[in-house]
Amino acid sequence: MNKFIGFITEKGGVSKTMSSVNFAHILAVSGYRVLFIDLDAQMNATDMLMMGTEYECPCYTELLCRRVKDADSLYTEFIYESNFELIDCIPGSPILKDIIYDIHSESQKGFSVFTCLRQNIGLVRDDYDYVMIDTNPGDTTLTRCAICACDGVLSPIKADNFSFSGVTGLLQTIIGLKQSCNVSVEFMGMFFADVNVSSSGYKRVKEWYEENYGEYILPVSIRHSVQVSDSTLRYLPLLVACRRHGTTDDYIRLVRSLGLIDDAHDKRLERYLLPRRAKSGQVPSEAPADNAAGQGGSHG
Ligand SMILES: Nc1ncnc2c1ncn2[C@@H]1O[C@H](COP(=O)(O)OP(=O)(O)O)[C@@H](O)[C@H]1O
Ligand SMILES: [Mg+2]
Repeated sequence: MNKFIGFITEKGGVSKTMSSVNFAHILAVSGYRVLFIDLDAQMNATDMLMMGTEYECPCYTELLCRRVKDADSLYTEFIYESNFELIDCIPGSPILKDIIYDIHSESQKGFSVFTCLRQNIGLVRDDYDYVMIDTNPGDTTLTRCAICACDGVLSPIKADNFSFSGVTGLLQTIIGLKQSCNVSVEFMGMFFADVNVSSSGYKRVKEWYEENYGEYILPVSIRHSVQVSDSTLRYLPLLVACRRHGTTDDYIRLVRSLGLIDDAHDKRLERYLLPRRAKSGQVPSEAPADNAAGQGGSHG
């Protein structure tokens, strides 16, 4: 079972942050303890999980280029409670923009920086069921540190031709790092995100991907929906912003399809999903799932 999961693509704007935040929240609602690491200087995930909470941007040079002393130091200096039960967070920081210079200068000293994050986070491995890592776009030294810290990598892709080059590059980078850093990291697959599943463009692109990357295409695609941008305006994961909605349901099915939720935790998730009944009668407290972007039913 992959416990440290990174959302990584070379392309930006493909739903890495949206997916990592919602994966983390679905797992937490299912009863798993989750640590979220925001490795993006834009800090969108931190905003989603920690809006209104007091925290200091951590010194990422320590986390990425030096050995943290022990788990206590990690908790004191880096890890904060998020706004959501069972999710702790290492917030992002604007210094991540320039962190590659620190990483490069440390690597000149012969220090093995690529595996440093992995070792540091490993100090709290037993305290969490899952660690979700959101990353910056591009193939940078920082994303390479993130890949080395992961047991598994997931890649959201858009239904366009531009996503393609990003994925082939990532697969090569993973193979290279497995060899050069002797880490065991699995490419768990790619999934379409933010797509209009009834459009001919999506169907064509998906077919092409399935022909060329069959084994790597995950069986659930995430539908485009305006509720997603609304949820970011409210800094809420989809299960809170719109619990019974097509796109929310897509994320739940995707998490389940990866086998990340065992039966006992799935029961807890099911209980959370039960429509809440108004005191007087049978009326659900939220509107039934509208089919996002007008595309209902199962797909994938
Ligand atoms: N399923 C979706 N439906 C509608 N908008 C989406 C969906 N997924 C992502 N978005 C929007 O697309 C933009 C990019 O998503 P984001 O998760 O920030 O990408 P990344 O982290 O890869 O740069 C954001 O504005 C987000 O709100
Ligand atoms: Mg992002």
